[in-house]
Amino acid sequence: LTPDSCGIIIFGASGDLVYRKLIPALFNLYTRNLMPITFYILGFARTEMTDEEFKERIRNSLISVHKISDTQMVESFLSQCRYTSGEYNDIEAYRRLQKKAAGCDCDFTKKENKLFYLALPPQLHPTVVSRLSQSGLTMEGENEDPWARVVFEKPFGHDLKSALELDKHLTSMLNPSQIFRIDHYLGKETVQSILMLRFANIMFEPLWNQRYIDNIQITVAESVGVEHRGGYYEKAGCLRDMFQNHMLQMLSLVTMEPPTRFKAHCVQSERVKLLHAIRPWSERTLKDNIVRAQYVEGKVNNEDVHGYHGEPNIAPDSTTETFVGMKLYIDNWRWQDVPIYMRSGKRLSMRESEIAVTFKRVPHSLFGLESQHEMPSNILVMKIQPNEGVDLTIHTKQPGPKACMASLSLSFKYSEVFDTVPQDAYERLLLDCMLGDRTLFLSREGVEAAWKIVDPVLNFWRDHPEQAPLHTYSAGSWGPKASDELLLRNGHQWRNPP
Ligand code: BG6
Repeated sequence: LTPDSCGIIIFGASGDLVYRKLIPALFNLYTRNLMPITFYILGFARTEMTDEEFKERIRNSLISVHKISDTQMVESFLSQCRYTSGEYNDIEAYRRLQKKAAGCDCDFTKKENKLFYLALPPQLHPTVVSRLSQSGLTMEGENEDPWARVVFEKPFGHDLKSALELDKHLTSMLNPSQIFRIDHYLGKETVQSILMLRFANIMFEPLWNQRYIDNIQITVAESVGVEHRGGYYEKAGCLRDMFQNHMLQMLSLVTMEPPTRFKAHCVQSERVKLLHAIRPWSERTLKDNIVRAQYVEGKVNNEDVHGYHGEPNIAPDSTTETFVGMKLYIDNWRWQDVPIYMRSGKRLSMRESEIAVTFKRVPHSLFGLESQHEMPSNILVMKIQPNEGVDLTIHTKQPGPKACMASLSLSFKYSEVFDTVPQDAYERLLLDCMLGDRTLFLSREGVEAAWKIVDPVLNFWRDHPEQAPLHTYSAGSWGPKASDELLLRNGHQWRNPP
């Protein structure tokens, strides 16, 4: 599992994502001996900094923020970090970068493999890729030796049209095999384990279809608000921020057909096929099956918090949605007419992400209940985060002389069973990228298929705002009433953890 020696060149190296996610992930890989035997990290951003100042930022983040106590390990990691600054569109800056990288190749890796990580707003992606290509930095050798890979953070475009344009631009500068599109949800242990649960156990798959499954719910609830990301979020909104990527990718893993092998192209193509099978929206379903809402002030974890309009960098009359709930259907033999409910929002009651598969009731009730409609269902819950684990509700006999039924859960928690917290998604994805494994990355077709689901909704909201009202919900609640009503119409309810 040890990747080839390589340089990791991070664009946007003064930004928040780098210190919050990327550096800790690289450091953890380092401490677990999963980094290449020789490597270096070269930061690039507009902010002028010396190597020492860059190292000081990393040191500070690892020790003070991420509470790493092994200072010797931190210093050893830092000795492989370098920095250079420049404007993203200035070709001279790329020449300097090239020179610095060549020096690092010589000092550290003796190889020219490079992983470029674009931790940058998407509008900068085309410029950076053009300049990288013009300066020859992304040129690969024969048989990808040395290799050059470029990792792109979402969002991939703002809508279908811009995503296609972006893709055209990227593929004119890079080979498809050089492009790695990250959706960090695919790197989460629990999201990956969906496939193991489904395909490494015989008992679920025979029931995994419309004959036995009543409905599926996917919830990604966050208790945080938009924090300091108002500038980005105002333009994105919840549908682009969470559904176009994370939610639809999780849905595809839960509902796709079994891939023939656990190889990138097999898994990616099954995910895409599933997205293509989602029933296209009609004017009626756009209006009736989707709820958008924005939070107003309320209490989260017993603390009073502002409404969305009170957050920094938010327009006072903003109509950006911070919550989306929807019902959709998948038109294929396996899932015909099984309602799929998905919701995600900021400033909800708690941080809780789960996928709940509710099975149909038994066809006949033996145990004294009036009818089988009173029998509770079996529910399989994949707990994505926090408290990662799996929970299966089953029914059994209560001890005693009467045939009384009790519902209980067969469950396990990763932290208890494996005595470890799951690996961070970025760790896994950075490692896979260095290893050249694309299984957990998005394909061009996957991104396009997801936009085809989201685009009509965005257009409908823009063109018919009167038919898609922006509801409100109190911070700290489980969303607007309209989202509960969406399920009630089918006799269902959201599973709100207590
Ligand atoms: C990001 C979104 O992709 O995912 C954020 O841009 C969101 O708005 C985040 O908060 C959620 O990720 P996680 O891993 O904290 O669930």
